[in-house]
Amino acid sequence: MSLKQLPQRFIAVSIVILAAVMIIGLCRAGAAQAQTLPQVDTHTEPGGGTFVNYQPAGPSSETGAFFQALGTNGRTCETCHEPADAFGLSLADIQSRPLSDPLFAAVDGADCLDQPTSHNLLLNYGLIRVMLPISPVTFTGATPNYVIKVLKDPTNCQLNNPNVQAACVQAYGPGAQCISVYRRPLPTTNMSFQSVLFWDGRVPSPQTIGLTAALNQVDIHATETHEQTGQPTAAQLADMAAFQEGLYSTQETDAIAGSLTANGATESAQNLANITAPAFYYGINQPLTPGFNVNAMTFFNAWSSLTGTDPVSLQEESIARGEGLFNDLRFRVGPNPKNISGCTGCHNDPNVGDASDVPVLMTQVANDAPNDPTLETGNYLPEFSIACPGKNQPVTLTTDPGQVLIDGNCNDVRKVKTPTLHALLAHPPYFRSGAAATLQQVVTFYNVHFNIGMTAQQQTDMVNFLGAL
Ligand code: HEC
Ligand code: HEC
Repeated sequence: MSLKQLPQRFIAVSIVILAAVMIIGLCRAGAAQAQTLPQVDTHTEPGGGTFVNYQPAGPSSETGAFFQALGTNGRTCETCHEPADAFGLSLADIQSRPLSDPLFAAVDGADCLDQPTSHNLLLNYGLIRVMLPISPVTFTGATPNYVIKVLKDPTNCQLNNPNVQAACVQAYGPGAQCISVYRRPLPTTNMSFQSVLFWDGRVPSPQTIGLTAALNQVDIHATETHEQTGQPTAAQLADMAAFQEGLYSTQETDAIAGSLTANGATESAQNLANITAPAFYYGINQPLTPGFNVNAMTFFNAWSSLTGTDPVSLQEESIARGEGLFNDLRFRVGPNPKNISGCTGCHNDPNVGDASDVPVLMTQVANDAPNDPTLETGNYLPEFSIACPGKNQPVTLTTDPGQVLIDGNCNDVRKVKTPTLHALLAHPPYFRSGAAATLQQVVTFYNVHFNIGMTAQQQTDMVNFLGAL
């Protein structure tokens, strides 16, 4: 397949990519005590590799608003966006904390707000409860054009729970009804590349209102919900946004290959911060547009010509092959045989791996299907059905309906943000549901779900590549 043909192939991906609409515990204590986050903040992962949080503008004080308890429940932003987890939250970190840690506050760190001692979803899958209104209007005031039903409620935290509904009315006004979904915290690093914020895009896109204004909306919401207090001051908001906008995180060394900038490779947080060919802009690499470059990942190009047989060379060669597969694999992503995509059809932002598309493009990977044999989210998450009256389409079963909960539009069921792929080893588990405990499980999901047919060696190469990003 030539590069020229690819845009057309990607146009065909309409069902899945809808253009118009689409150290963890040990180090933690040390990080919390430090007064300064250094310009180059290096952490060792349990597997032996290292990752870096990098601030081009220089070190910053850990007394800023991001690190302050703004409410009374003792939480800070760092409670769930931990520098030692590349500003995400790893399961090992969660499990290393005593249950008295503010992380476990009942409001959203328990299976439900009225079960303060039940933390199954947080302790086993890294999930925080997110309460969203479904009726009479959505979070943004849209009127839903779908019919949602709760089919399974393993945490007793849905429409039948009067305490949840009372909290819903308090948050969203008289008559409001809410469901609870359970999601992993998204890392608050590499923010300057984000075209969507939150898994469901529930604040305006940074592309529309600017990154700082969009972050301000996220940060107000975060303070009010997680820290259970009122709006931060303008100065606190500015401080939090500036801090988050100035962070870059990537893997720095691989446990076997060592340096990720050896032998001509260019994977580093400094290089990520300095991408200039070209510098990031919204829509930099859109799959449905002429000029789309499927070869979005290039940091390990130089390793594809290595031929050594020592362990370091073999690992470097494997990582380079994984990068090649990430760019080159083609597989069917929808019911129509013409719905062909590769990993970079969605993870298209060059060397960043989120989706750079404009207008905001959310994608469906259907890893929220309660009956998926590789992820088994159905064993622990609630299950909803979404029907679209007047449309000849089957009822969707999902554990987290995604963007449809925000814009009320049935076309957007299951659509979610395509996350950045860097410093992944710093914060397992993966997917918003925390259903993939390891990168191998992520790759198995894709391989089985999309029937890709990767060999065992190809899967290993892909895992090695993802772990080196
Ligand atoms: C109790 C855990 C918790 C705390 C405390 C917390 N967050 Fe979050 N954060 C989350 C979760 C969970 C998400 C994903 C929610 C979703 O998408 O629905 C998230 C998402 C975000 C995002 C979106 C990132 C992206 O790439 O889209 C930003 C930004 C953010 N939080 C900033 C903050 C700030 C600033 C604070 C402090 C005021 C904070 N968070 C406190 C759990 C937390
Ligand atoms: C149809 C769009 C699409 C395609 C194709 C796609 N992804 Fe994804 N990817 C996503 C979305 C959306 C998510 C977030 C889903 C979620 O968390 O529920 C995701 C999540 C991931 C994650 C987890 C990141 C995290 O922090 O949890 C990894 C790793 C990943 N994808 C790798 C790949 C690889 C490797 C391929 C190719 C085999 C691929 N993706 C193909 C859209 C896509």
